[in-house]
Amino acid sequence: MERLLQQKNRLKIDHCYNEFEVLIKEKRAFLDHAKGNFLKYKKILESIPDFIPSSIDFKHEAITIGDKSDLTTKDASFLNEKLEQLCPWRKGPFNLFGIKIDSEWQSWMKWDRVEPHLGNLKGRRILDIGPSNGYYMFKMAGHNPLMVLGVEPQSSFYFQYLTLQKFLKQDNVFCLPIPHDQLPKMDKYFDTVFCMGVLYHRKSPVQMLKDIFDSMKPGGELVLENLIIDSKQNFCLFPKDRYAKMRNIFFIPDLLVMESWLLRAGFTNIRCVDVTKTSIEEQRKTKWIQTETLKDFLDPNDPNKTIEGYPAPVRAIFIANAT
Ligand SMILES: C[S@@+](CC[C@H](N)C(=O)[O-])C[C@H]1O[C@@H](n2cnc3c(N)ncnc32)[C@H](O)[C@@H]1O
Repeated sequence: MERLLQQKNRLKIDHCYNEFEVLIKEKRAFLDHAKGNFLKYKKILESIPDFIPSSIDFKHEAITIGDKSDLTTKDASFLNEKLEQLCPWRKGPFNLFGIKIDSEWQSWMKWDRVEPHLGNLKGRRILDIGPSNGYYMFKMAGHNPLMVLGVEPQSSFYFQYLTLQKFLKQDNVFCLPIPHDQLPKMDKYFDTVFCMGVLYHRKSPVQMLKDIFDSMKPGGELVLENLIIDSKQNFCLFPKDRYAKMRNIFFIPDLLVMESWLLRAGFTNIRCVDVTKTSIEEQRKTKWIQTETLKDFLDPNDPNKTIEGYPAPVRAIFIANAT
């Protein structure tokens, strides 16, 4: 976290430096006196030695850190045990020194849908809202941006990110253990903002989009991925209770509502570049997650419906400009 402050001049964050300083001090004190899950994951992270990878690779489906031959059998077995303790690995896959983390999601499938539509990321200031363990942040790092900043409030994912960074040491990739609304105001700062798989978790999606808009440079690019429903009537699904067994799901718009939200938040040049039904090839149970997965969230007699009777998950990717 403190690296952000140390790189103040390179990152040009003078205008919000004081706010970052206060926030990072507060988060450091919180982590130093961590309790519960934060303490559990912190202890795991601290127990992992600084193994040096002989190579890193962001280009292929699995983000690859080092090679089997970089570690002794004893060290590899120790690392494997620690990585298992950091479960569930939802995003990935990763290959750490020959240990294959076959995550719940085949995240490269989403990246393959997003990447062809992106503007150049080289030299850009990027925000990734809800990056989970940072799989996509490291994919972005492969494009040489000036910075990628993630804001990820969930302890297990944040510590998975720190574990990966321990080996990857990407100087331009940062992550703060906070929700998006705790990020200091960074008016007209980011060139590119990724908001993927987060908007349906928010009670006020339009407010979130407005806040994102304010943080972006004029002309900057938003990459928005969200659950959608199949309707052409400006409709939105608001689940009575759970959606696909998830508790914290609020608005699931159709494509027209999504466009209206983006317009009302100030975005222009709005394009829907992909609509994909989530498949059991993309999201499935592996030994790296102990919880239920997509198959368990669907109606066993009708895979087009969730267990609650709502339309099964379909996701859309929008690109828009803050102009
Ligand atoms: C469904 S996952 C999506 C992860 C990744 N962005 C992707 O597209 O695969 C949602 C992520 O957003 C995080 N999240 C939820 N609410 C958030 C908020 N208010 N601010 C930032 N992240 C949030 C969750 O902890 C989780 O890592």
